[in-house]
Amino acid sequence: MVMAMSERAQRIEPFYVMKILQQAQQLESRGQSIIHMEIGEPDFPSAEMIIRAGKQALDNQYTHYTPANGLPELRAAIADSYSDQAIIDPGRIVVTPGASGALQLVMALLLDPGDGIMLADPGYPCNRHIASLFSAQIQSVAVNEKTDYQLTAELVEKNWQENTRLVLIASPSNPTGTLIPQQELSAIYQLVQKKGASLVVDEIYHSLVYDQQVASALSQGEQVFVINSFSKYYGMTGWRVGWLVMPEGYIESANRLAQNMFLAAPTLSQHAALAALSEETGVELKRRRDIFHQRRDILLPLIEQAGFRVKTVPAGAFYIYADCSAISDDSMKLCDTLLHQAGVAITPGADFGSNKSASYVRFSYANTVENLQEGMRRIQQWINEKS
Ligand SMILES: Cc1ncc(COP(=O)(O)O)c(C=O)c1O
Repeated sequence: MVMAMSERAQRIEPFYVMKILQQAQQLESRGQSIIHMEIGEPDFPSAEMIIRAGKQALDNQYTHYTPANGLPELRAAIADSYSDQAIIDPGRIVVTPGASGALQLVMALLLDPGDGIMLADPGYPCNRHIASLFSAQIQSVAVNEKTDYQLTAELVEKNWQENTRLVLIASPSNPTGTLIPQQELSAIYQLVQKKGASLVVDEIYHSLVYDQQVASALSQGEQVFVINSFSKYYGMTGWRVGWLVMPEGYIESANRLAQNMFLAAPTLSQHAALAALSEETGVELKRRRDIFHQRRDILLPLIEQAGFRVKTVPAGAFYIYADCSAISDDSMKLCDTLLHQAGVAITPGADFGSNKSASYVRFSYANTVENLQEGMRRIQQWINEKS
C-alpha cells in the first residue's frame, strides 16, 4: 500500500512509446512477429572503437567519479567539435547523463515554480514532463507544416506571456525531423534576449541532417543553452552521456546543481564518448548517417502510398510524422490495432502533445530497409483488408 505520493509523481504522464515498446515485446515473447517502427534509438550497436574504449577504461579501472561537470579531456573534445562554428571555452560545458540529464539540469537552472516554458506542440514529450516536475507552466504553441512544425519569432512574440522565462526549440525536431531555418533561429535568439528570458536549443539530432549542413545555435552568440548527446548520432543510447553548453555566467550554479543532481555522468561511458569524437569513429558514423538517409528516402514514398500524408519532408533525425486521418481519426486506436493485428509498432501523435494529435502518427526508421519494407507491406495489407 502506498501511504503518500507526491502530487507530481501522480501527475506525470507516461512516455507512450515506451508503453508500446513494452506491449510489442510482450507480443514477441508470445511468438508474434513485430516490426519495430516506434523506437527512437539507432538499431546499430555502438561503433567498435567506442566499445573498445569502454573496455579499455574498465581495464584501466576508471571506476571512480569524474568531476561533476565531466572529464576535462571530454569537455575539451566537445568544445573542439564546435571549433569551425564558434569558440567555446570547455568551462561552459557540463557533461550529463544523456540529453535527459541536460534537460533536467537546464530546467533546474532556469525555472522557478510558476515560470512559463514555451515549446512547440508537437514536440518531445519529456520536455513538458520534466518542466512540470519543476512546477513550471507549460506554454505549448501549436505548430504545423506551414512553419515546418517549428516555432517562429512571430509565434514566440504572439504567445509570449508575462511569466515566460524559457523558450525551448529542438532542431531537427522529434517527432517531425524538421529544422528551424537559420534566420528564424537568429530572430528568436534576438527576441528572447530582448525579453530577458533564456533560449534552449536541443541539437540531439543535429548531426543526423541529410541534405544540408546546419550550424549550431552556438554560432548565434553566447546567450543560448545548447543540449546535445552521444545517444543518437554517436549510437550510444545505453551509455548515458550528453552535454549542456551554457553562457559563462551560469557555470558555477550549473556545476553545483550537477554535483547535487548526478554527482557525475558515468565514468566508463565518458571515456567511451571520448573515442566517439575521434576522426576514426567519425568515418563510421558518417557511413551510418548515409544509411539513415537512404532509409528515409525508401520509407517516405511507402508511407505516402499507404495513404498517410507527409506534409513536410523531414530534414533529419530518424522520424517521419504522418497525417493518418485518411485511414483513421483516432491515431491511438490505429497504433494499437496495427500492433495487434498487423504486427507493426508505430507511435501515436498523443505522445507529442495535444495539437491534432489524433490525426498523426510517428514512424521511426531506426530499422533495416528490409524490416521497414516488410512493416509497410503489413500496414498496406491491413488497410486493403479493412476497406
Ligand atoms: C529531442 C530529444 N531530446 C532528448 C532526448 C533524450 O536523449 P538521451 O537522454 O538518450 O540523450 C531524446 C530521446 O529520444 C530526444 O528525442
